[in-house]
Amino acid sequence: MIVLFGSSGAMASTDGKMIFQTVCAQCHGTAGEGKPEIKSPSIAGMPAWYVNTQFANLREGRRGHDAADPQSFMMAAIAKALQPEQIKAVVAYVEQMPMKVPVGKDREIVNASAEDGMRLFQERCMECHRYNASGEMTFGSPPLIGRQGWYLEEQLRKFKSGKRGAIKNDVNGAKMVQITQFFVEDEQMLRDVVAYIMTLNPDPAATPEEQQRQIIEGSPFKSVER
Ligand code: HEC
Ligand code: HEC
Repeated sequence: MIVLFGSSGAMASTDGKMIFQTVCAQCHGTAGEGKPEIKSPSIAGMPAWYVNTQFANLREGRRGHDAADPQSFMMAAIAKALQPEQIKAVVAYVEQMPMKVPVGKDREIVNASAEDGMRLFQERCMECHRYNASGEMTFGSPPLIGRQGWYLEEQLRKFKSGKRGAIKNDVNGAKMVQITQFFVEDEQMLRDVVAYIMTLNPDPAATPEEQQRQIIEGSPFKSVER
């Protein structure tokens, strides 16, 4: 039997769903939708290859090593407390959860131009994250749809300031440190590009089939006028 969180922990399981509900849900929500009050991302439907990379980064000190970044510091403690079998199980569970389409404040980017953001995205981001921001495993670049706008903004700031991605041997993080330092020149550009990424999310009110079609289409600007 594998014990989570030592003798103080109530849990001993390698059941992905149970681990999710007892450990992750308190911070990421029961449907994996994330919580703005603690700045935790929506993770439902996140591909296993990316979650595995992040767990390895968190466990091995490439992410969450700095107390000045309390969110990933907290997440690193969780990642280190889990056994490899438990990580494997929970990662598989997370991947099959239906993606949460951001709505309301999670989708809204104030004082931003999605048009300007589109230019930057097409010139500097889509070669790795794809035209529709659905990510590309071979480049290690995660999907950016399904995340809250404020979370994407925060991560871009963390890369730019070196709180994330600047540790030696973090090859994938280093790519983002470079991109943000060279091309995301200021807060305006940062908000603009995230505003554009938000338009690549499907319509939250559409059926799952229709959402799938919209994601594949990647239709730029379909929600800019709204
Ligand atoms: C104590 C709160 C807390 C718990 C419990 C927690 N997380 Fe997190 N998690 C966070 C926060 C906050 C972040 C954002 C870190 C950052 O800003 O860099 C995060 C980030 C992540 C990320 C990175 C997402 C990305 O887009 O890079 C993954 C993956 C993740 N958590 C999965 C999990 C899983 C799976 C569990 C359960 C085993 C879990 N978390 C439990 C708070 C928590
Ligand atoms: C050379 C490839 C490459 C380019 C170009 C690139 N990215 Fe990334 N991006 C990555 C990789 C790889 C990661 C994952 C880093 C890691 O594993 O920690 C990432 C991660 C991110 C994240 C963190 C997502 C999360 O869930 O935590 C954001 C946000 C992001 N990129 C936005 C952008 C934006 C915006 C641009 C354009 C300005 C861009 N990226 C350009 C490769 C790239």
